[in-house]
Amino acid sequence: MLVLGIETSCDETAAALVDSGATILSNIIATQFDLLKKYGGVVPEIAARRHTESIGYVVKEALDKANKTLNDVDAVAVSSKQGLIGCLMVGVAAAKSISYARGIPLIGIHHVEGHIFANRLSHPELPFPHVCLTVSGGHTMILYVNDNSTYELMGTTLDDAAGECFDKIAKFLDISYANRNTGGGRVIDELSHQGNLKAFNFPRPMIRSKNLDFSFSGLKTSVINMFKDKIVRGESLPLPDIAASFQEAIVDVLVTKTLHAAEEKEVRAISVTGGVSANSRLRAVFQETCERKGIAVFFPPLSLCTDNAAMVAAAGYAHLKRGEFSGLRLDVFPNAPIGV
Ligand code: KG4
Ligand code: ZN
Repeated sequence: MLVLGIETSCDETAAALVDSGATILSNIIATQFDLLKKYGGVVPEIAARRHTESIGYVVKEALDKANKTLNDVDAVAVSSKQGLIGCLMVGVAAAKSISYARGIPLIGIHHVEGHIFANRLSHPELPFPHVCLTVSGGHTMILYVNDNSTYELMGTTLDDAAGECFDKIAKFLDISYANRNTGGGRVIDELSHQGNLKAFNFPRPMIRSKNLDFSFSGLKTSVINMFKDKIVRGESLPLPDIAASFQEAIVDVLVTKTLHAAEEKEVRAISVTGGVSANSRLRAVFQETCERKGIAVFFPPLSLCTDNAAMVAAAGYAHLKRGEFSGLRLDVFPNAPIGV
């Protein structure tokens, strides 16, 4: 069963063909880094317009790369929940057109469910139940994943998402997008390799709170205040040390809280997904801590960490198998919750 996935929830225009929810035949992603560089971040209206220009080409490329035509596609899955409204609408309109023209099922997917399936796609052995940390530019969530369709939200961010915090600090330090086609998180990740992660003791917000929620805005303010203070005092600005210490604070909070969730639910497996799951320090600390505690930890390959349509197609296949279709009345829900 061949599912065409479409993803346009933020600034990536993506289409992919996945066979039986398991084999990726093509996975095309058109980034908008030229626009990000120009405007210093995502401008929703401009991003949506770019999706409109790109989506036809991206779908065609996904089909060509897989040596398939639309006649070979059995269903079309699209991110319709959580994201920028105008951006989601472009993907959903394209998916509806294909579904209508070909008379094939249309399946709306929650973007976070897509991220969860990025790990299921790359690790079919990932056991149920498990705890999933979805951590990206738009979300920071701990979910208890009971099976392929039941998600319990255990904790979420009260303000900034972790990736958003990475991006804002990179922008403040004026290191994001600088001559590179990559977002702020990756720049901080790379810069941190040259820095001392103990150079500054930044706060770990809510690390000791009883619940599993997060808050990153205080950490962001603390980094910015320290930076400005150094400028006023005429002191040197050791960017790699700041990046490494800041990153360490985020990683510490994410790992500690996810481990608490795993202990609370008594599960022996953790899945980490979303753009920030590409972070090398986050991966290393999770591996080391989980190994000590005898818990298995799973990450998607780097190509499936950030937004892509293969994860949407894989999630769509699970819905298809259960006979869950959306129909042509499918609408977009920018703030739809996932789980209970
Ligand atoms: O999943 P994603 O593509 O989009 C959302 O659903 O939001 O995640 C994008 C986020 C950005 O905030 C980006 O800075 C972050 O993922 N990111 C990273 C790394 N690579 C991407 N953050 C930290 N370290 C990385 N290596
Ligand atoms: Zn995402």
